Amino acid sequence: MTDDFERMWADLAPVGRSTSSGGYFRQPFASAEEELRGWFAEQAAARGLTLETDAFGNQVAWWRPEPTPGQVEILGVLTGSHLDSVLDGGAYDGPLGVVSALAAIDVLRDRGVQPSRAIGVGVFREEEGSRFGLACLGSRLATGSVAWAEVEGLRDRDGVALGDVTAAPENGAGGILADVGCFVELHVEQGRVLVDSDDPVGLASGIWPHGRYRFDFTGRADHAGTTRMEDRADPMLTYAMTALAANKQARLSGQRATFGRIDVAPNGTNAVPSRVTAWLDARADSDEALGALVAAVEKQASERAGRDGTTAVMTAESVSGAVAFSADLTDRIRSTRSWPVLPTQAGHDAGILSAAGHPSAMLFVRNPTGVSHSPDEHAETVDCLAGVEALADALMELV
Ligand code: GLV
Ligand code: MN
Ligand code: MN
Repeated sequence: MTDDFERMWADLAPVGRSTSSGGYFRQPFASAEEELRGWFAEQAAARGLTLETDAFGNQVAWWRPEPTPGQVEILGVLTGSHLDSVLDGGAYDGPLGVVSALAAIDVLRDRGVQPSRAIGVGVFREEEGSRFGLACLGSRLATGSVAWAEVEGLRDRDGVALGDVTAAPENGAGGILADVGCFVELHVEQGRVLVDSDDPVGLASGIWPHGRYRFDFTGRADHAGTTRMEDRADPMLTYAMTALAANKQARLSGQRATFGRIDVAPNGTNAVPSRVTAWLDARADSDEALGALVAAVEKQASERAGRDGTTAVMTAESVSGAVAFSADLTDRIRSTRSWPVLPTQAGHDAGILSAAGHPSAMLFVRNPTGVSHSPDEHAETVDCLAGVEALADALMELV
């Protein structure tokens, strides 16, 4: 098993890796991610799994047992994760769940397990929303929780529309999840709970509600030297004060708020900008707290805009409600070993499947620094192998 895991991990290591930062650029519908999807298809074929792909590019590789006479067919167990990354992301967020799922199949076969229901290994596309802005786009489309008509016009930073790079997948009875009963996603932990509890593996209780909100700050372009300070309408100031206000608001309420992306026009050193577009990522421990946090930031942005002679307009781009994972599924996995159970502030396809009615659970693998969405994201191999064993045990329990 060690060999299988390490060999697969070594296959993936160079794909989409930046030589300067050591981080990964695996945006969907681009070469590195396409290469990873091809790699996944090869791994599925090497194991005799039946690969299904929908029109969007979500993939599921099935290990389907021979039906025994009179057997009532039960929907399958899906595991897996995603292969795309954030911009300059880590190696583990996503791929660890896919590689561990394939390695867990190898473990089950080594153990001589004959599953009583099908096991699928899934790869959901554009989980990070790094290109088209909407997180978990592949699983949202596959579950039908977002309609193609709502998203086909989304554009990436170069202005390319989603509808020009891919097509609408089917969902429901004809879709790639038609045979899926429940979903177990393994993921690198993106915090330090397991370090503190000294456990290699944990389980998720649920996901904090979270969302992405675009702020368009508009002012008036002007000369950086000749325009008196009191005569300016500078949207950069409105943005800067909004970012500080968001940070303060989140700290005061124990929630999370981040401005991690801005776009400035015309982006010149010697001109007051005419426009700043900035994206707020906000997360909170309840839907009400998220609503209150975002409303407070929006209010402070517009008050500041009033003082700066600018305008501030907020648009919600991607919002995910609170998720409580299946207690039944989580208890069954915990019956194999009593792993700690922790909430997470990160979004996952398991949250989308859960909200769409597929009982879901998540396993986390310890991350020694807790750093994630960064080239420094890491997990020790020994912990990854413990994760594979835990996933194999979970699958055994469910099949
Ligand atoms: C996904 O990784 C997210 O939480 O943004
Ligand atoms: Mn991520
Ligand atoms: Mn992820």
